Amino acid sequence: MAETIIRFENVTKQFDNDPPVLDNVSFEIEKGKFYTLLGPSGCGKTTILRLIAGFLEASDGKIFLNDKVINEIPANKRPVNTVFQDYALFPHLNVFENVAFGLRIKKMKKDVIQQKVVEALRFVNLAGYEKREITEMSGGQRQRVAIARAIVNEPEVILLDEPLSALDLKLRTEMQYELRDLQRRLGITFIFVTHDQEEALAMSDEIFVLNKGEIQQSGTPIDIYDEPINRFVADFIGESNIVSGKMIQDFEVEFVERRFECVDQGFNPNEVVEVIIRPEDLEITTEEKGNLRVTVDWVLFRGVHYEIGCIDEDGNEWLVHSTKKAKIGEKLGLAFDPEAIHVMRLGETEEEFDARLESYEEA
Ligand SMILES: Nc1ncnc2c1ncn2[C@@H]1O[C@H](COP(=O)(O)OP(=O)(O)O)[C@@H](O)[C@H]1O
Ligand SMILES: [Mg+2]
Repeated sequence: MAETIIRFENVTKQFDNDPPVLDNVSFEIEKGKFYTLLGPSGCGKTTILRLIAGFLEASDGKIFLNDKVINEIPANKRPVNTVFQDYALFPHLNVFENVAFGLRIKKMKKDVIQQKVVEALRFVNLAGYEKREITEMSGGQRQRVAIARAIVNEPEVILLDEPLSALDLKLRTEMQYELRDLQRRLGITFIFVTHDQEEALAMSDEIFVLNKGEIQQSGTPIDIYDEPINRFVADFIGESNIVSGKMIQDFEVEFVERRFECVDQGFNPNEVVEVIIRPEDLEITTEEKGNLRVTVDWVLFRGVHYEIGCIDEDGNEWLVHSTKKAKIGEKLGLAFDPEAIHVMRLGETEEEFDARLESYEEA
């Protein structure tokens, strides 16, 4: 078992008399991994980071770092550094002085500061930029200065609050790669915040999906993508076709008024469920061979694949990702395997969901 570095135990955060921003949140963060808090704007991501950093106090519950309660420990005494969304660099200081700032406050010796700053800048590929003014640096370079300023303090945890959201797509992709690589080289725990699901899937060891101050699901990118716990997660992580259905019996589910073989079990007979099929799991075929008969409504070319919007005989929409082209108005069949059908129980908690998946594996 990996060591736990941060633990939230029933943490609630409420401002004034507003409804809680975080409601009884519990989770564990293991040492040395790349974690992502993923969720829509306003769901409480920044609040969690600020509680860890010590910029906010929990209204209730306990926050542990290395098994010690840190609720009362001031921010500057926590071995945690934050990279802010807008970087919060000092525009009047050059690159070296920005990175050195925290070390100077700690009154470290000049030659030690010199050595640490140079090393941190080398780590983020900015060797030789010491004398540059911040205003002369590009967006990506400023990002790296902000990271150097965090790592120079040798924290145990680095918190990153949507640090890539201001960058254009190409630079953003490069920085995703750089950050991931940096985390591996440093081996320290990163807690990264984003509202971008693709970014979360690409970068993380573990993702926490948040909605309205609650963790909906936690797991590896593959777990969360393949086995979303509910409609919110399925919808937020990747594109999905979600329809309501009925679990007739083990391995048989009904939706769009037809019955299909599936791999799910352990539901009550005729239990109302939600059914997901990912767009890449729908295969275009002839009307005769398909599980569903559809008419093509729209087509978008996405480079590697086509995105194809189809309507079935009952008027349900189906999104298909395919390398095959289709024509608007064309009548097609959509085929899928039993494994492509993912059945979700309504209102299931993460614990119940995990227990159900485990029982499949045992069966
Ligand atoms: N200082 C504050 N006072 C009152 N409400 C706040 C304060 N900070 C955040 N909130 C509220 O808490 C909720 C979550 O905010 P935040 O954690 O910043 O969300 P996210 O980072 O996921 O976008 C929002 O509804 C926000 O308005
Ligand atoms: Mg935020």
